[in-house]
This record gives sequence, C-alpha cells and structure tokens, in this order.
Amino acid sequence: MQHLLSLKDYSKSQVEQILALAKDLKANPDKYSDALKGKSVITLFEKPSLRTRVTLDIGINRLGGHAVYLDSQNGAMGSRESVQDFAANLSRWAHAIVARVYDHQTLVEMSEYAKVPVINSLCNLYHPCQALADFMTIAEHHDDLSKVHLAYVGDGNNVTNSLLLLGAILGATVTSVCPRGRNVDAQVLKEAEALAALSGGKVQVADSLEGLTDIDVLYTDTWVSMGDDTPLEQVIEVFMPYQINQAMLDSTGATQVLHCQPAHREMEITSEVMDGPASIILDQAENRMHVQNAVLLTLINRDMH
Ligand code: CP
Ligand code: NVA
Repeated sequence: MQHLLSLKDYSKSQVEQILALAKDLKANPDKYSDALKGKSVITLFEKPSLRTRVTLDIGINRLGGHAVYLDSQNGAMGSRESVQDFAANLSRWAHAIVARVYDHQTLVEMSEYAKVPVINSLCNLYHPCQALADFMTIAEHHDDLSKVHLAYVGDGNNVTNSLLLLGAILGATVTSVCPRGRNVDAQVLKEAEALAALSGGKVQVADSLEGLTDIDVLYTDTWVSMGDDTPLEQVIEVFMPYQINQAMLDSTGATQVLHCQPAHREMEITSEVMDGPASIILDQAENRMHVQNAVLLTLINRDMH
C-alpha cells in the first residue's frame, strides 16, 4: 500500500500519471462520477482550512464517494486515544485517510498503523497536494516543465519544501528566495538536489532575486504559517523586500504568479498582482480538487487490487 506523506518516494512517472489523471478529471468529470462509489474517505484537520476542506468534500462527492470530516475538537490527535488506535479504527471503516496535522511524525505513525492510504494535506514540513496542484496549474501554461523556472519568494516553509521536491522530481528549475535564516533547511535541499540529479532539474536557494534570470513563475505564501504565533507585524520589516508586487513582476519578467492562499493582501502579495492578469491563483485553488481526486483514485484503486 502506498501513502502520500511527502512525495519524496514518488517517481517522475508516478507523479506524471497523477497529473495526467487530474487533467482528465478536470476535462471529463462525467467519466468519473461513480469512480469512488461506495467508498468513504476520512478528512481530518488539526488546523484550520478553507480550500483543502472544501475541495476534498466537494471533490469526493463528485466522484460518488463520501467524505467524513473530523475536526480537532479533541485536541491534537493522540490526546484522547493513541495515533495507533486512531489509525487502526479508521482503517476498519474508511478507504483512505487525508490528514492535516501539526507534526509530520503524526502522519508517519499513522501510516505505520493504517491499513488504508494516508494522505498528507499539510503538516509542519510538507504540503504535497498543494505542490501537485501548483505544477498542474503551471503545466496549463507551459508544455515542457523541464524548461520552467519557478521562483518562490518569501518564507521558506512547508509549501516551499514540497515545491522544491516536486520541481526536482519533474525536472523543473526551482529557486527558493528567502531572507537569511528563513530559507528551507539543508536536509530538504539535499533531498531535492538528489532528486534533481535524477531528473535533470535544478534546485537552488538565494536571499535575493538579483542575478536570477529567466524566471517564468513567481510564487509566494504567508510569512507566518499556522502553528507559529509570531504576529505578522513583527516580521514585516524582514519580509517586505520579498513582497510580490508589480515592480517585482516587471523586473523579473515572470509571466505567471501563484499563491497557495490564504493570502495577506499588501503583505506578501499586493492586490494589484493578485487580481491582475498574471495571477493564476484561482485556477491553482480549483486544481487542488482535481489533483486530490487523482491521488485518491490512484491510491485507493491501487490498494483494492
Ligand atoms: N492552500 C491551502 O491549503 O488552503 P487552506 O489552508 O484553506 O486549506
Ligand atoms: N505555509 C502555510 C500554508 C497554508 C496553506 C501554513 O502552513 O500555514
């Protein structure tokens, strides 16, 4: 059985198959209206969500399946009963578990005891479903991902980690541009570099956009992620030079802009850019549903054979 915890253990062809299925799900929804008939999927959240919760619920419904929402009313998973028992019980009723958790280790433990696929819908380290939607969206504008240069600008976080890993798997060029001390950690970079060596891709870190050329896509995310209590006002000074605004768009010549959302307008991105012609942010949000459905179909069907 295969889980989706970080994408690290996925091959280029596996990822390409998921993206191709997502594209077909988007183009031909009627073909798949019974694809998850009789199947139930747990969607579990220790943290808030708009896009992930709604795209899972509506997406699973569109495949004829049933989504069961569990929130964190009992605190972090493991406080009322062990993660082991949680996973073992859920596996008796559901066909997959999608979970958003504080600590990646919770997902690792869950996957050890679950008898059904466990899918990471955001943790402190990764956001793989987001990265899949991001590259699906980029592919809608670029036929050859190996020719794409994506520059992530802002805080090096879970979203950045997954972009680097998936970009490396797919053979793209990904540069993470963050203030010193806020870039992705050395271990993730090392893993992404190893994957890029296999695909012919390129991953790099920088603390400014200076000297970077041929950037096609600019991407940003919040400067303060969920689980970090630092008030946004406290980090403005450090991050303001990394704001995606019209001047940055003009100076880089980037043709598309992405943001995973929730966005803080006039902080990490200006409204002018977010609502402007280069923004493909709402396509990106829509595509969350198609890639998650592709992941669910792939992992659940694989498991049933
Ligand atoms: N991008 C994303 O995961 O959004 P939510 O936090 O609203 O689910
Ligand atoms: N980095 C952000 C992503 C939100 C979708 C967070 O973890 O809060």
